[in-house]
Amino acid sequence: MADPKQAQTPQRSGLSSNTVDYGDRDFALFLRRAFIKGAGYTDEDLGRPIVGIVNTGSDFNPCHGNVPALIEAAKRGISQAGALPMVFPTISLHESFAAPTSLYLRNLMSMDTEEMIRAQPMDAVLLIGGCDKTLPAQVMGALSAGRPFVVLPTGPMLSSQWAGERVGACTDCRRLWADYRAGRLHQTQIQEANNRLVPSVGTCSVMGTASTMACVLEAMGLTVAGAASAPAVSADRVRLATASGAAAAALASGRVSMPTIGQSQFDNALATLLAVGGSTNGLVHLAAMMGRIGLDLQPKAFNAMADKTPVLVDLKPGGQGYMPDFHEAGGMPRLMLELGGHLDLTVPTVTGETLEQRLDQLSALGRIEHHAQMVIRSAQQPIYPAGGLRFLFGNLAPHGAVIKPVAASPALLTHQGRAVVFEGLEDMAARLDDPALDVGPQDVLVLRGIGPLAAGMPEAGLIPIPKKLAAQGVRDMVRLSDGRMSGTAAGTIVLHISPEARVGGPLALVRNGDLIRLDVEAGRIELLVDEAVLTSRASEALHERLPSVGRPRGYGWLHAQQVLQAPQGCDFRFLRASSAD
Ligand code: FES
Repeated sequence: MADPKQAQTPQRSGLSSNTVDYGDRDFALFLRRAFIKGAGYTDEDLGRPIVGIVNTGSDFNPCHGNVPALIEAAKRGISQAGALPMVFPTISLHESFAAPTSLYLRNLMSMDTEEMIRAQPMDAVLLIGGCDKTLPAQVMGALSAGRPFVVLPTGPMLSSQWAGERVGACTDCRRLWADYRAGRLHQTQIQEANNRLVPSVGTCSVMGTASTMACVLEAMGLTVAGAASAPAVSADRVRLATASGAAAAALASGRVSMPTIGQSQFDNALATLLAVGGSTNGLVHLAAMMGRIGLDLQPKAFNAMADKTPVLVDLKPGGQGYMPDFHEAGGMPRLMLELGGHLDLTVPTVTGETLEQRLDQLSALGRIEHHAQMVIRSAQQPIYPAGGLRFLFGNLAPHGAVIKPVAASPALLTHQGRAVVFEGLEDMAARLDDPALDVGPQDVLVLRGIGPLAAGMPEAGLIPIPKKLAAQGVRDMVRLSDGRMSGTAAGTIVLHISPEARVGGPLALVRNGDLIRLDVEAGRIELLVDEAVLTSRASEALHERLPSVGRPRGYGWLHAQQVLQAPQGCDFRFLRASSAD
């Protein structure tokens, strides 16, 4: 990698690289060979370039339930290409099994990935991940480690049927739960739905964070062709694993050079995020990845890109279909063809050719289907002509906030209402459904104390509609927070308000009954309270009473010392490129 901001690529020397420090390098290698031969390897095996395979299989992570099969297929590809596969474990994170939040632990996974790549002798690495935080953590770690890498997503789960309708995790999880809260479903029905929402292993079947990140990484050229969308339990997914292994072996042997990753790849990533109607979380993760190579995500440039990038993919949560439909429609290769001038197709890929050459090859082989379908639209007939995601600014979010206009209610995109404020998740849980709560459909629900430092930025920004309003048929309200929301969720939700309340952001100054104005077209979120009143409230330092996430020791201590705000991707200060190495 020639970019001076990226860490240096270590010398490619297979087993003899990264020897342990005993003060005698030859002895260290002698010892290493002796130990590894205990596993039955020969000198011929050990003379090959080495591809490390990151194993994130875990019984606690059903999104990675196919990892053992993918590893076997990848090993086949690596061996056939003349390299030696070596599997090693790292942390695995599943959204429902990583308390307090998976984002809180993402940086730990990235550190684990980086250090294990650095510590062990491998010439290239195959990153197998999928569930929301895993691919970002792996790429952040690999970028910092400076070792050639290929990304292999685990792939989306299948969709399912319940009560005569198609369902899938987890947009429908949230929709059906909202129906249950509003009394539209009874206990037996919600229990039966629970059995049907996740019909197989794999990542969520909508364009949530996992699918968004897989698509984005394919548009950056960091996967083999088609890797973003093949279902986790398909034959295509197994073949992709074999091809990914072979690609990593070519990098390990030096037959293919690892592309230098820079602004062009990230511009492709951001354009793809917009075109797929992707998750707001994508902005957090891309900002963190960019920070690892000395780049910053520029909100104004992103908004300008959003103004001209069409939304072409019709999947839930914003649209209709599920990820298997996207795959059958042609997946990322077809989308990249449709997006054309919105992408830089001259960027090189991990398989050696540029994106443009890859698309030409696939077309020549007849592997980009051009059949009629409605999931991937043309740029001439987009689902939305522009504006998939947008940064907002104003006195309530001086460093920015994010909204997904295409998942919001059009009537609420310009709205003014009274603030109804909740101090963290416990307070919200205690009062939201209280029949005495003073709240109406035009009010603005404000949840603070769920930012990166306060709470590890949980996906709690989709504040439930208060039960008494839900029972009246209210399905959406303007909701604000310094937290995130699941990529599978929808609504008029302003997220990632920065700085968060816990560090003294203006969100800490809002009082019940204050007027808040949202104007998405103007890109503004404003607290309509006199400056002098806000200055007086600031002197009360309410934010200091909000908690910090995690224990005051170990990783929790490190998190509290180092975590940055959403515009820096919630990475740790010392992990960004400017403080690396
Ligand atoms: Fe793993 Fe949705 S919970 S991708």
